[in-house]
Amino acid sequence: MSIKIVGTGSTLPEKCVTNEDLTKLVDTSDEWIRERTGIGSRHVSTGETVDELAASACEKALADAGKSASEVELLLVATCSPECGIPGVACQVQSRLGASNAVAFDLNAACAGFLFALNTAWAYVEAGIYRNALIAGAEVLSKIVDWSDRGTCILFGDGAGAVYVEKCDRDGMLGFVQHADGSRGEVLRCDSRALKNPYADVSMKSPYVQMDGREVFAFAVRQVPAGIQEVLDKAGTEADDIDLFVLHQANYRIIEGIAKRLKQDISKFPVNLDRVGNMSSAAIPVLLDELNRAGRLKRGMKLVLSGFGAGLTWGACVLKW
Ligand code: COA
Repeated sequence: MSIKIVGTGSTLPEKCVTNEDLTKLVDTSDEWIRERTGIGSRHVSTGETVDELAASACEKALADAGKSASEVELLLVATCSPECGIPGVACQVQSRLGASNAVAFDLNAACAGFLFALNTAWAYVEAGIYRNALIAGAEVLSKIVDWSDRGTCILFGDGAGAVYVEKCDRDGMLGFVQHADGSRGEVLRCDSRALKNPYADVSMKSPYVQMDGREVFAFAVRQVPAGIQEVLDKAGTEADDIDLFVLHQANYRIIEGIAKRLKQDISKFPVNLDRVGNMSSAAIPVLLDELNRAGRLKRGMKLVLSGFGAGLTWGACVLKW
Protein backbone atom coordinates (compact mmCIF):
# COMPACT_ATOMS: atom_id res chain seq x y z
CA MET A 1 0.00 0.00 0.00
CA SER A 2 1.18 3.52 -0.69
CA ILE A 3 -0.05 7.11 -1.13
CA LYS A 4 -0.37 9.25 -4.22
CA ILE A 5 -0.65 13.01 -4.60
CA VAL A 6 -4.02 13.84 -6.13
CA GLY A 7 -4.18 17.60 -5.59
CA THR A 8 -1.78 20.52 -5.18
CA GLY A 9 -2.10 24.19 -4.24
CA SER A 10 0.02 27.18 -3.33
CA THR A 11 -0.29 30.77 -2.17
CA LEU A 12 2.31 33.53 -1.98
CA PRO A 13 1.99 36.90 -0.25
CA GLU A 14 1.17 39.70 -2.68
CA LYS A 15 4.26 41.80 -2.15
CA CYS A 16 7.22 40.95 -4.34
CA VAL A 17 10.64 42.26 -3.25
CA THR A 18 13.36 42.39 -5.89
CA ASN A 19 17.12 42.27 -5.36
CA GLU A 20 17.15 45.90 -6.43
CA ASP A 21 14.74 46.69 -3.54
CA LEU A 22 17.18 45.02 -1.12
CA THR A 23 20.03 47.30 -2.21
CA LYS A 24 18.11 50.05 -0.38
CA LEU A 25 18.32 48.04 2.87
CA VAL A 26 21.79 46.45 2.83
CA ASP A 27 25.10 46.76 0.98
CA THR A 28 24.46 44.30 -1.85
CA SER A 29 23.71 44.16 -5.56
CA ASP A 30 21.41 42.32 -7.94
CA GLU A 31 24.49 40.93 -9.68
CA TRP A 32 26.00 39.50 -6.45
CA ILE A 33 22.76 37.88 -5.34
CA ARG A 34 22.00 36.34 -8.74
CA GLU A 35 25.55 35.09 -9.22
CA ARG A 36 25.87 33.49 -5.77
CA THR A 37 22.32 32.20 -5.33
CA GLY A 38 20.25 32.42 -8.54
CA ILE A 39 17.61 34.45 -6.67
CA GLY A 40 16.07 37.50 -8.36
CA SER A 41 13.05 38.26 -6.16
CA ARG A 42 10.96 36.83 -3.34
CA HIS A 43 7.49 37.38 -1.85
CA VAL A 44 7.30 38.97 1.58
CA SER A 45 4.34 39.12 3.94
CA THR A 46 2.82 42.52 4.64
CA GLY A 47 0.39 40.95 7.09
CA GLU A 48 -0.40 37.49 5.74
CA THR A 49 0.11 34.90 8.50
CA VAL A 50 1.47 31.36 8.24
CA ASP A 51 -1.94 29.80 8.94
CA GLU A 52 -3.66 32.10 6.44
CA LEU A 53 -1.20 31.21 3.67
CA ALA A 54 -1.32 27.51 4.60
CA ALA A 55 -5.14 27.44 4.65
CA SER A 56 -5.30 29.13 1.26
CA ALA A 57 -2.84 26.61 -0.26
CA CYS A 58 -4.80 23.75 1.33
CA GLU A 59 -8.10 25.01 -0.10
CA LYS A 60 -6.56 25.01 -3.57
CA ALA A 61 -5.12 21.50 -3.10
CA LEU A 62 -8.54 20.22 -1.99
CA ALA A 63 -10.23 21.89 -4.98
CA ASP A 64 -7.62 20.38 -7.32
CA ALA A 65 -8.29 16.93 -5.82
CA GLY A 66 -12.07 17.45 -5.94
CA LYS A 67 -12.35 16.82 -2.19
CA SER A 68 -14.09 18.63 0.65
CA ALA A 69 -12.45 19.64 3.92
CA SER A 70 -14.72 17.33 5.91
CA GLU A 71 -13.18 14.30 4.16
CA VAL A 72 -9.65 15.03 5.43
CA GLU A 73 -8.47 12.55 8.08
CA LEU A 74 -4.94 13.85 8.77
CA LEU A 75 -3.84 17.48 8.47
CA LEU A 76 -0.11 18.16 8.80
CA VAL A 77 1.61 21.53 8.59
CA ALA A 78 5.38 21.69 8.28
CA THR A 79 6.69 25.05 9.46
CA CYS A 80 9.56 26.62 11.38
CA SER A 81 8.02 30.10 11.53
CA PRO A 82 4.62 29.85 13.25
CA GLU A 83 3.06 33.01 14.69
CA CYS A 84 2.10 31.15 17.88
CA GLY A 85 3.79 28.56 20.05
CA ILE A 86 0.31 27.27 20.73
CA PRO A 87 -2.06 26.41 19.16
CA GLY A 88 -0.28 24.68 16.32
CA VAL A 89 -0.67 26.06 12.80
CA ALA A 90 -2.35 22.82 11.67
CA CYS A 91 -5.16 23.39 14.22
CA GLN A 92 -5.55 26.99 13.01
CA VAL A 93 -5.74 25.72 9.42
CA GLN A 94 -8.24 23.04 10.45
CA SER A 95 -10.45 25.76 11.91
CA ARG A 96 -10.15 27.99 8.81
CA LEU A 97 -11.02 25.08 6.50
CA GLY A 98 -13.68 23.49 8.68
CA ALA A 99 -11.79 20.18 8.45
CA SER A 100 -13.46 19.05 11.64
CA ASN A 101 -12.92 15.32 11.10
CA ALA A 102 -9.14 15.62 10.78
CA VAL A 103 -6.49 15.18 13.42
CA ALA A 104 -4.14 18.15 13.01
CA PHE A 105 -0.60 18.80 14.16
CA ASP A 106 2.62 20.57 13.15
CA LEU A 107 5.98 19.17 12.28
CA ASN A 108 9.25 21.13 12.32
CA ALA A 109 12.18 19.78 10.34
CA ALA A 110 13.02 23.20 8.84
CA CYS A 111 13.59 23.00 5.08
CA ALA A 112 13.13 19.22 5.09
CA GLY A 113 9.79 19.66 6.91
CA PHE A 114 7.42 19.13 4.00
CA LEU A 115 9.23 15.99 2.92
CA PHE A 116 9.23 14.61 6.47
CA ALA A 117 5.50 15.39 6.74
CA LEU A 118 4.81 13.60 3.45
CA ASN A 119 6.72 10.56 4.70
CA THR A 120 4.84 10.72 8.01
CA ALA A 121 1.52 10.70 6.16
CA TRP A 122 2.67 7.69 4.15
CA ALA A 123 3.58 5.83 7.35
CA TYR A 124 0.15 6.55 8.89
CA VAL A 125 -1.66 5.40 5.76
CA GLU A 126 0.50 2.29 5.43
CA ALA A 127 -0.21 1.46 9.08
CA GLY A 128 -3.92 1.61 8.25
CA ILE A 129 -4.59 4.49 10.65
CA TYR A 130 -5.74 7.10 8.08
CA ARG A 131 -6.77 6.89 4.44
CA ASN A 132 -5.82 10.39 3.32
CA ALA A 133 -3.91 13.49 4.38
CA LEU A 134 -3.68 17.17 3.62
CA ILE A 135 -0.08 18.32 3.99
CA ALA A 136 1.13 21.91 3.87
CA GLY A 137 4.55 23.52 4.05
CA ALA A 138 4.12 27.15 5.11
CA GLU A 139 6.48 29.91 6.20
CA VAL A 140 6.64 33.58 7.01
CA LEU A 141 10.41 33.64 7.35
CA SER A 142 10.52 37.40 6.95
CA LYS A 143 9.74 37.74 10.66
CA ILE A 144 12.75 35.63 11.73
CA VAL A 145 15.22 37.14 9.26
CA ASP A 146 17.55 39.96 10.31
CA TRP A 147 16.90 42.55 7.59
CA SER A 148 20.22 44.23 8.34
CA ASP A 149 22.23 41.04 7.68
CA ARG A 150 23.08 40.86 3.98
CA GLY A 151 24.34 37.30 4.39
CA THR A 152 20.84 35.98 5.11
CA CYS A 153 18.10 38.52 4.27
CA ILE A 154 18.71 38.10 0.54
CA LEU A 155 17.96 34.37 0.64
CA PHE A 156 14.53 33.86 2.13
CA GLY A 157 10.92 34.32 1.03
CA ASP A 158 7.41 33.71 2.40
CA GLY A 159 4.72 31.40 1.04
CA ALA A 160 2.82 28.14 1.37
CA GLY A 161 2.23 25.02 -0.68
CA ALA A 162 0.04 22.00 -0.03
CA VAL A 163 -0.79 18.55 -1.36
CA TYR A 164 -3.73 16.25 -0.79
CA VAL A 165 -2.69 12.57 -0.73
CA GLU A 166 -4.71 9.39 -0.53
CA LYS A 167 -4.19 5.68 -0.20
CA CYS A 168 -3.38 3.76 -3.36
CA ASP A 169 -2.72 0.09 -4.01
CA ARG A 170 0.19 0.47 -6.41
CA ASP A 171 2.67 3.10 -7.61
CA GLY A 172 2.44 6.43 -5.73
CA MET A 173 5.34 6.73 -3.26
CA LEU A 174 8.00 4.12 -4.01
CA GLY A 175 10.50 4.79 -1.24
CA PHE A 176 11.81 7.36 1.21
CA VAL A 177 14.83 8.10 3.38
CA GLN A 178 15.16 10.63 6.23
CA HIS A 179 18.23 11.74 8.16
CA ALA A 180 19.08 14.13 10.97
CA ASP A 181 22.37 15.27 12.50
CA GLY A 182 21.68 17.46 15.52
CA SER A 183 25.39 17.72 16.32
CA ARG A 184 25.69 20.22 13.44
CA GLY A 185 22.67 22.29 14.46
CA GLU A 186 24.67 25.47 15.14
CA VAL A 187 25.36 26.13 11.45
CA LEU A 188 21.77 27.26 10.88
CA ARG A 189 19.92 28.40 13.95
CA CYS A 190 17.22 30.76 15.19
CA ASP A 191 16.31 31.07 18.87
CA SER A 192 12.68 31.69 19.76
CA ARG A 193 12.31 32.82 23.37
CA ALA A 194 14.67 33.58 26.22
CA LEU A 195 14.19 31.78 29.55
CA LYS A 196 12.77 34.49 31.79
CA ASN A 197 10.81 33.58 34.88
CA PRO A 198 10.97 34.44 38.59
CA TYR A 199 13.91 32.02 38.97
CA ALA A 200 15.91 32.56 35.79
CA ASP A 201 16.85 35.25 33.32
CA VAL A 202 18.90 33.68 30.57
CA SER A 203 19.51 35.71 27.45
CA MET A 204 19.34 34.05 24.06
CA LYS A 205 21.78 34.21 21.18
CA SER A 206 19.51 35.85 18.62
CA PRO A 207 15.83 35.76 17.68
CA TYR A 208 16.94 35.92 14.02
CA VAL A 209 18.38 33.36 11.62
CA GLN A 210 22.11 32.85 12.15
CA MET A 211 23.89 30.93 9.44
CA ASP A 212 27.30 29.68 8.40
CA GLY A 213 26.53 29.80 4.69
CA ARG A 214 29.63 27.95 3.54
CA GLU A 215 29.06 25.05 5.93
CA VAL A 216 25.41 24.75 4.88
CA PHE A 217 26.44 24.85 1.23
CA ALA A 218 29.05 22.10 1.70
CA PHE A 219 26.58 19.94 3.66
CA ALA A 220 23.92 20.22 0.96
CA VAL A 221 26.19 19.42 -1.97
CA ARG A 222 27.70 16.41 -0.18
CA GLN A 223 24.79 14.93 1.76
CA VAL A 224 21.82 15.46 -0.55
CA PRO A 225 23.10 13.47 -3.56
CA ALA A 226 24.07 10.65 -1.17
CA GLY A 227 20.52 10.68 0.26
CA ILE A 228 19.03 10.68 -3.23
CA GLN A 229 21.22 7.75 -4.29
CA GLU A 230 20.14 5.92 -1.14
CA VAL A 231 16.44 6.37 -1.89
CA LEU A 232 16.92 5.40 -5.55
CA ASP A 233 18.55 2.15 -4.41
CA LYS A 234 15.77 1.57 -1.91
CA ALA A 235 13.11 2.09 -4.58
CA GLY A 236 14.99 -0.18 -6.99
CA THR A 237 15.45 2.55 -9.60
CA GLU A 238 18.22 4.70 -11.05
CA ALA A 239 18.81 8.41 -11.52
CA ASP A 240 18.56 7.99 -15.30
CA ASP A 241 14.97 6.70 -14.88
CA ILE A 242 13.86 9.82 -12.99
CA ASP A 243 11.97 12.42 -15.04
CA LEU A 244 12.25 15.32 -12.58
CA PHE A 245 14.20 16.05 -9.41
CA VAL A 246 12.08 18.45 -7.36
CA LEU A 247 14.58 19.75 -4.83
CA HIS A 248 14.43 22.21 -1.98
CA GLN A 249 15.04 25.63 -3.52
CA ALA A 250 17.91 27.07 -1.48
CA ASN A 251 20.52 28.09 -4.01
CA TYR A 252 20.89 27.43 -7.75
CA ARG A 253 24.57 26.55 -7.30
CA ILE A 254 23.59 23.86 -4.77
CA ILE A 255 21.13 22.41 -7.30
CA GLU A 256 23.84 22.47 -9.99
CA GLY A 257 26.26 20.72 -7.63
CA ILE A 258 23.71 18.00 -6.84
CA ALA A 259 22.89 17.48 -10.54
CA LYS A 260 26.60 17.14 -11.29
CA ARG A 261 27.17 14.57 -8.54
CA LEU A 262 24.19 12.54 -9.76
CA LYS A 263 25.48 12.87 -13.37
CA GLN A 264 22.10 14.21 -14.46
CA ASP A 265 21.27 17.00 -16.88
CA ILE A 266 20.33 20.24 -15.12
CA SER A 267 17.14 20.42 -17.24
CA LYS A 268 15.71 17.63 -15.03
CA PHE A 269 15.91 19.99 -12.02
CA PRO A 270 13.07 22.53 -12.22
CA VAL A 271 13.61 25.79 -10.34
CA ASN A 272 11.48 28.68 -9.16
CA LEU A 273 13.91 30.14 -6.61
CA ASP A 274 14.68 32.96 -9.05
CA ARG A 275 11.14 34.29 -8.35
CA VAL A 276 10.45 33.08 -4.78
CA GLY A 277 13.78 32.62 -2.95
CA ASN A 278 14.18 30.00 -0.23
CA MET A 279 10.79 29.39 1.41
CA SER A 280 12.02 26.55 3.65
CA SER A 281 9.27 23.93 4.12
CA ALA A 282 7.06 25.67 1.52
CA ALA A 283 9.64 25.37 -1.27
CA ILE A 284 8.90 21.83 -2.51
CA PRO A 285 5.07 21.95 -2.42
CA VAL A 286 4.99 25.38 -4.10
CA LEU A 287 7.28 24.15 -6.89
CA LEU A 288 5.23 20.94 -7.24
CA ASP A 289 2.04 22.98 -7.56
CA GLU A 290 3.59 25.27 -10.19
CA LEU A 291 4.74 22.23 -12.19
CA ASN A 292 1.34 20.58 -11.83
CA ARG A 293 -0.58 23.66 -12.95
CA ALA A 294 1.81 24.20 -15.87
CA GLY A 295 0.98 20.66 -17.06
CA ARG A 296 4.57 19.47 -16.62
CA LEU A 297 3.61 16.50 -14.41
CA LYS A 298 2.17 13.60 -16.41
CA ARG A 299 0.71 10.48 -14.80
CA GLY A 300 3.37 7.76 -14.70
CA MET A 301 6.32 10.15 -14.46
CA LYS A 302 8.92 9.28 -11.83
CA LEU A 303 9.91 12.10 -9.50
CA VAL A 304 12.46 12.49 -6.74
CA LEU A 305 11.63 15.03 -4.04
CA SER A 306 14.44 16.04 -1.72
CA GLY A 307 14.51 18.49 1.19
CA PHE A 308 17.44 19.60 3.35
CA GLY A 309 18.22 22.25 5.90
CA ALA A 310 18.49 23.22 9.55
CA GLY A 311 18.75 20.50 12.13
CA LEU A 312 20.64 19.41 10.16
CA THR A 313 17.95 17.39 8.41
CA TRP A 314 17.72 15.90 4.94
CA GLY A 315 15.67 13.32 3.14
CA ALA A 316 14.27 12.22 -0.17
CA CYS A 317 11.47 10.19 -1.68
CA VAL A 318 10.77 8.61 -5.05
CA LEU A 319 7.22 8.71 -6.35
CA LYS A 320 5.29 7.84 -9.46
CA TRP A 321 3.01 10.75 -10.35
N1 COA B 1 25.96 41.08 -1.07
C1 COA B 1 27.23 41.40 -1.31
N2 COA B 1 28.24 40.81 -0.64
C2 COA B 1 27.94 39.88 0.27
C3 COA B 1 26.62 39.51 0.56
C4 COA B 1 25.61 40.16 -0.17
N3 COA B 1 24.31 39.88 0.03
N4 COA B 1 26.62 38.55 1.50
C5 COA B 1 27.90 38.31 1.81
N5 COA B 1 28.71 39.12 1.07
C6 COA B 1 30.16 39.21 1.08
C7 COA B 1 30.77 38.69 2.37
O1 COA B 1 30.78 39.70 3.37
C8 COA B 1 32.16 38.32 1.90
O2 COA B 1 32.93 39.50 1.83
P1 COA B 1 34.45 39.49 2.29
O3 COA B 1 35.14 38.53 1.35
O4 COA B 1 34.86 40.92 2.11
O5 COA B 1 34.46 39.02 3.70
C9 COA B 1 31.96 37.81 0.49
O6 COA B 1 30.68 38.36 0.07
C10 COA B 1 31.92 36.31 0.40
O7 COA B 1 31.07 35.83 1.41
P2 COA B 1 30.75 34.30 1.58
O8 COA B 1 29.82 34.13 2.73
O9 COA B 1 32.03 33.53 1.60
O10 COA B 1 30.00 34.03 0.18
P3 COA B 1 29.53 32.69 -0.43
O11 COA B 1 30.07 32.54 -1.78
O12 COA B 1 29.69 31.53 0.53
O13 COA B 1 27.96 32.94 -0.60
C11 COA B 1 25.88 32.35 0.44
C12 COA B 1 27.15 33.17 0.55
C13 COA B 1 25.06 32.59 1.69
C14 COA B 1 25.13 32.82 -0.79
C15 COA B 1 26.25 30.85 0.28
O14 COA B 1 27.20 30.47 1.25
C16 COA B 1 25.06 29.97 0.38
O15 COA B 1 24.12 30.07 -0.37
N6 COA B 1 25.09 29.01 1.33
C17 COA B 1 23.94 28.13 1.55
C18 COA B 1 22.92 28.88 2.34
C19 COA B 1 21.58 28.21 2.33
O16 COA B 1 21.16 27.75 1.31
N7 COA B 1 20.92 28.20 3.49
C20 COA B 1 19.64 27.64 3.63
C21 COA B 1 19.71 26.17 3.56
S1 COA B 1 18.17 25.45 3.72
